[in-house]
Amino acid sequence: MPIAIVSAMHEELAAVLAFMPDEHRQVAAGRAFWRGHLHGKDVVAVLSRIGKVAAATTATALIERFQVDSILFTGVAGGLAAGVGVGDVVVADSFLQHDMDASPIFPRYEVPLYGASRFATDAALTARLLAAVGTALPSARVHHGLVASGDRFVSTTAESRALQQALPEVLAVEMEGAAIAQVCRDYGVPFAAVRTISDRADDAAHGDFLQFVQDIASRHSAAIVEAFLRG
Ligand code: ADE
Repeated sequence: MPIAIVSAMHEELAAVLAFMPDEHRQVAAGRAFWRGHLHGKDVVAVLSRIGKVAAATTATALIERFQVDSILFTGVAGGLAAGVGVGDVVVADSFLQHDMDASPIFPRYEVPLYGASRFATDAALTARLLAAVGTALPSARVHHGLVASGDRFVSTTAESRALQQALPEVLAVEMEGAAIAQVCRDYGVPFAAVRTISDRADDAAHGDFLQFVQDIASRHSAAIVEAFLRG
């Protein structure tokens, strides 16, 4: 069964495809999936698309149509906790949706009918991912912990501070991971995720994000994916 490599951005996917000698394109759910080999491993590479619903559809198609046995997600995120700076790497041990709020019927952040607000990543796959990050980017500062997802690009200092106060454990914020984690939990498919910090989710986030994506993000992700599949 193939491993899914899910990229958040075109630049990252292109860098992964550059390492695949034999990829062929298959369309499902209006998305292009790239099936082939990377370091001899059977893989399906795809763009997550942006936002929780789009990412959930991508994950569902990977599991239902391509029968992937695990999902590895790479992308960028805004740093939230103090000390999580641009260029750092965050490996998720769990995800929550910072914009989930069915209160007062359910506690704030709890996903209705799951009895939980946090969805853990797979421990064994995440340990492999942490090792791969260490191999691929030996001088990077690496954090491991909670990542928050929501359908918002967090780009004001005021919003970032409010999130930090409400959720002090959150290391970084992005727009897809919690959705993929929830789908993977539904299907019992192991999931691991790594995010390079592109901005601090503050008033400067927009400019920092665009520059980082062009300069660094895709090289980071491709190096991590390579080390992950080689290891
Ligand atoms: N991905 C990268 N930076 C982000 C931010 N500031 N907010 C949401 N998603 C992001």
